[in-house]
Amino acid sequence: MVQPDIKMRKARVTDSNYIKKLVNQYAENGVMLPISINMVYERLRNFSILEKDGKVIGCGALKIVWKDLGEIRSVAIAPSQNKKGYGRILINHLLEEAEKLEIKKVFVLTYVPGFFEKMGFSRISKSKLPHKVWTDCINCPKFPRCDEIAMQFEL
Ligand SMILES: CC(C)(COP(=O)(O)OP(=O)(O)OC[C@H]1O[C@@H](n2cnc3c(N)ncnc32)[C@H](O)[C@@H]1OP(=O)(O)O)[C@@H](O)C(=O)NCCC(=O)NCCS
Repeated sequence: MVQPDIKMRKARVTDSNYIKKLVNQYAENGVMLPISINMVYERLRNFSILEKDGKVIGCGALKIVWKDLGEIRSVAIAPSQNKKGYGRILINHLLEEAEKLEIKKVFVLTYVPGFFEKMGFSRISKSKLPHKVWTDCINCPKFPRCDEIAMQFEL
């Protein structure tokens, strides 16, 4: 069988609508938080894109929070491409990006702890995260009742 051509790259402005559509598709089912096109543009430089055979099939972002802390956000693989190992490729890429930046710890707030456990993340108490992390939450539809699970990876 011919192996698919898999490529990770930084996001471009032309990816913005795809990112918004993919994330909001999952947000409709309550597994991600919704994102506006304005938020995508503001955060675009944090995003990486996964391409398979020249077609975009996934996205994920790494945000620098502090000297020793990064956050993985908006990780999504197109529904037709789930469970083929692409989520793992995306997370490994974002962790490598964090390592190159010399970030020591990366956390995620997620509804899929099982997936992140497989990626080597461990559950932590939200109280371990600095106050700065919660500044974005004011814009979240679930604020102040955050039901996401906090998990962390040490590099
Ligand atoms: C979660 C998501 C990114 C996983 O991507 P994926 O390409 O399906 O995952 P992979 O195929 O790389 O799976 C890697 C491992 O995690 C496991 N896994 C995948 N999704 C899982 C889930 N929801 N729960 C538990 N384990 C999961 C796989 O079985 C696989 O395990 P294995 O290595 O033992 O075989 C993808 O399903 C998705 O986009 N979900 C909707 C959006 C979302 O919830 N994003 C997370 C936001 S923080």
